Amino acid sequence: MTTITICPSILSADFAFLADQISQAEAAGADWFHVDVMDGHFVPNLTMGPFIVETLRRLTSLPIDVHLMVENPDVMIPWYAAAGANRISVQIETCPHIFRTVESIRALGCNPGVVLNPGTPAATLEEVLPLVDLVLVMTVNPGYSGQQFIPRILPKIKKVSDLISTTASQAMIQVDGGIDPTTLPLCYQAGAKVFVAATSVFKHPNGIAAGIAALRSAI
Ligand code: DX5
Ligand code: ZN
Repeated sequence: MTTITICPSILSADFAFLADQISQAEAAGADWFHVDVMDGHFVPNLTMGPFIVETLRRLTSLPIDVHLMVENPDVMIPWYAAAGANRISVQIETCPHIFRTVESIRALGCNPGVVLNPGTPAATLEEVLPLVDLVLVMTVNPGYSGQQFIPRILPKIKKVSDLISTTASQAMIQVDGGIDPTTLPLCYQAGAKVFVAATSVFKHPNGIAAGIAALRSAI
């Protein structure tokens, strides 16, 4: 059986009923929860502080996967680790000292990941790949949920997959943005195994469980 990891992004959850939404997603077989942290500078939107991760930590024992879309990740990494994150990924565009940043995430007991914006080439990863557990290839321009998948990213996923094989890296490939039952198999074929989804889970017309089931059965 094919194993994929489904990570509902709580960006599209109904925060008036967060506890209920999390327990529905968990019961439906979510693997990790994805938290989108946006600072209003690196991306044009302002979202979740560490307080949200603290709250989520009380609602689930599943891994919490924090995606930092911020200009100064080095300052914020300890806040999110202390709040209960299990995995922390940083946008490579924001990290002039990526080795130090990745090592600091691991030293805090979390799994480090690096994220590539649509315009950032796969080759940027070459030196850091052996040090990370996850590469997130953005399939939209980060900032909002509900955007359209960018198909021209697919060859880059394949390039990242090839680079991982040639650098003795153990990193998994995650994709994020416009992931639904149509786009998921395309990313899977290119080498992605971990799928972030906000709209197609939390806004599915038949509910959260139906959204997760549709993603799971797409391959
Ligand atoms: C976009 C975020 C995504 C977003 C995905 O900047 O990083 O995680 O929540 O939303 P959908 O799945 O609706 O494209
Ligand atoms: Zn994200």
